[in-house]
Amino acid sequence: MKRISLTQHLIEEQRLHNTIPASLRLLIEVVARACKTISHAVGKGALGDVLGSAHSENVQGEVQKKLDVISNEILLQANEWGGHLAAMASEEMETIHPIPNRYPMGEYMLLFDPLDGSSNIDVNVSIGTIFSVLKAPDGMVTPSEKDFLQCGAKQVAAGYAVYGPQTVLVLTTGNGVQCFTLDREMGSWVMTQRDIQIPAETKEFAINASNARHWHPPVKRYIDELLAGETGPRGKDFNMRWIASMVADVHRILNRGGIFMYPADSREPDKAGKLRLMYEANPMAFIVEQAGGAATNGRQRIMDIQPEKLHQRVPVFLGSKGEVELVTGYHRN
Ligand code: AHG
Ligand code: MN
Ligand code: MN
Repeated sequence: MKRISLTQHLIEEQRLHNTIPASLRLLIEVVARACKTISHAVGKGALGDVLGSAHSENVQGEVQKKLDVISNEILLQANEWGGHLAAMASEEMETIHPIPNRYPMGEYMLLFDPLDGSSNIDVNVSIGTIFSVLKAPDGMVTPSEKDFLQCGAKQVAAGYAVYGPQTVLVLTTGNGVQCFTLDREMGSWVMTQRDIQIPAETKEFAINASNARHWHPPVKRYIDELLAGETGPRGKDFNMRWIASMVADVHRILNRGGIFMYPADSREPDKAGKLRLMYEANPMAFIVEQAGGAATNGRQRIMDIQPEKLHQRVPVFLGSKGEVELVTGYHRN
């Protein structure tokens, strides 16, 4: 098979669909380069003194790991100077990060979860980076948080990297989903999957079952039916997987089908689940829909939700379309 690079793919997609102007191409290439740097740091592990806690907390009150902080810095520094961005926002920063005055301001805004799956960092299990790209609103002079509050359907690009046995980058710009594998010797991203489609039929689900006693009735009903197996209403046995890194769970689902759930539950009625809408759920929803799957908050398409806050949380049901529609139907009833 003839291998093509990330750059060649972006240029060819621009020729075909006119969706990747040079500044967006630069943005994607710079993010991909930053992911390469993060992958390198992750790969060093204890040898690079990057494991363990940073002894600080982020805005969500979560303890930051050293690699959360390092990855955030890598993405900020890589993306500041190119002239393609107006501002950035991150899981690890309470407020938005406007581009410093010494650099030209561009027309895009970048959001990221610099390191997803923090609890897996110190135990050598796959982790990743998630990112979402929006256009700055027309006429914006000084970027503020409200300029970021656009629904996911407005994303112009989204992607994630997985730092696992291989480092891969999965990307969509609205014309399907492609996967690139990092060639570590060459230092380049090489396309290894084109137009990924999530298998419609699935026998796998992913949910943190330790929260079962807190689930709301529609989630309980759906999971009970899966667990009932061959003799239950679904008439087949299901298998369960939970990596605790959304990137890795979503990557499996893209390749093998399945459903990923992080519902809201009865523990903290005001907390809408765990995952964050703008830099976790929206980019993953864009990718999953582009791969023929679906993504809802149990009632509504995730990408139609009008964000109210930068760090807002959202219940997430995503993956094979039929399964997501079923559990969403249970919520609507
Ligand atoms: P992050 O490390 O960016 O805070 O995200 C972790 C998320 C997600 O990746 C994963 O699916 C989920 O949290 C795991 O949650 P539990 O620890 O409740 O299983
Ligand atoms: Mn995350
Ligand atoms: Mn994170």
